[in-house]
Amino acid sequence: MAMVCLSDFEDYAKKYLPKIAWDFFAAGADDCSTRDENIQAYKRIRFRPRMLRDVSMMDIRTKLLGTEISFPVGIAPTGFHQLAWPDGEKSTARAAKAMNTCYIASTYSTCTLEEITAAAPGGLRWFQLYIHRNRAVSQQLVQRAEALGFQGLVLTADLPYTGKRRDDVRNGFRLPPHMKLKNLEGAFEVCKMSPLDPSVTWNDIYWLRSLTHLPIIIKGILTKEDAELAVRHGVQGIIVSNHGGRQLDGGPATIDALVEVVEAVQGRVEVYLDGGIRKGSDVLKALALGAKCVFIGRPALWGLAYKGEEGLQDVLRILQDEFRLSMALAGCASVSEIGRHLVQFSKL
Ligand code: FNR
Repeated sequence: MAMVCLSDFEDYAKKYLPKIAWDFFAAGADDCSTRDENIQAYKRIRFRPRMLRDVSMMDIRTKLLGTEISFPVGIAPTGFHQLAWPDGEKSTARAAKAMNTCYIASTYSTCTLEEITAAAPGGLRWFQLYIHRNRAVSQQLVQRAEALGFQGLVLTADLPYTGKRRDDVRNGFRLPPHMKLKNLEGAFEVCKMSPLDPSVTWNDIYWLRSLTHLPIIIKGILTKEDAELAVRHGVQGIIVSNHGGRQLDGGPATIDALVEVVEAVQGRVEVYLDGGIRKGSDVLKALALGAKCVFIGRPALWGLAYKGEEGLQDVLRILQDEFRLSMALAGCASVSEIGRHLVQFSKL
């Protein structure tokens, strides 16, 4: 089967993954309207391409908080990679390093942070944190990540409780017994209720600041009000995200929320986006609307399900080639030439 675009990997994953794993990866909250809107919203945006602009030499590199990556697509944090491929997050780390991009490792990884680091030494990695009721667990995780050379701390803000994902409820989803949340071993057994802390507030950014020198990036922002609060609380980056539509159903597509966040932030911190990126032209639209970089969630899992590290590299390479081609066809030879002038919103 020729793998030509990301939906080929989606089809493969749907066909070959156990149903319970596929359903977990695909899930959105409630009736999945926000999950689906993340994708539909790109179709309402049209380009205003420019011609005759010498695109013989293309430069698609960018920087994330000062560190160069090969193109503006990184890997969003997703849990349980061993459900997709036996080597789990080790394969993800190797693929991200091989493609010279950023991998955000989830709190809910099925490999330890140490294993992830050893699998791809020197790769650009950020650590994603869910704050636990047992603050000592979170503190220890943050400090372990920093000591291991992770270069950013991503605080996920949109999950005080887990959204209602109907298929997971129907399937009674849980990790198979041979897989573990390896970075949290012990932390769950002591806790009968959800271990996540729903009492987290903006003040906890100051608590995190006191624990680490790492730049803090807040993930899950969708409004100008919260963007302003994030900047005021001293974060270095914002990821506009709705958790792939897995949390509050009925919220906006991330590409639609991006504009108000970018306008509120006014360049004071870097703004990124995840949700619904499936083509190189989606990446171009997000950059045109002010994202510095985008991240992929489910497509990375489909790549892993296809062929582990190699499959994820294939996914990233396809996205990279499509992004370069879209840029050239829109008349941009370098990322710095991408701007708001490139897009219009369709009236349809
Ligand atoms: C996620 N996401 C997520 N986010 C996070 O901060 N920590 C996590 O552990 C997870 N886990 C997770 C598992 C699965 C299976 C999915 C699909 C998503 C959300 C993720 O980081 C990202 O916001 C979305 O996946 C982006 O949307 P797309 O690219 O999947 O459309």
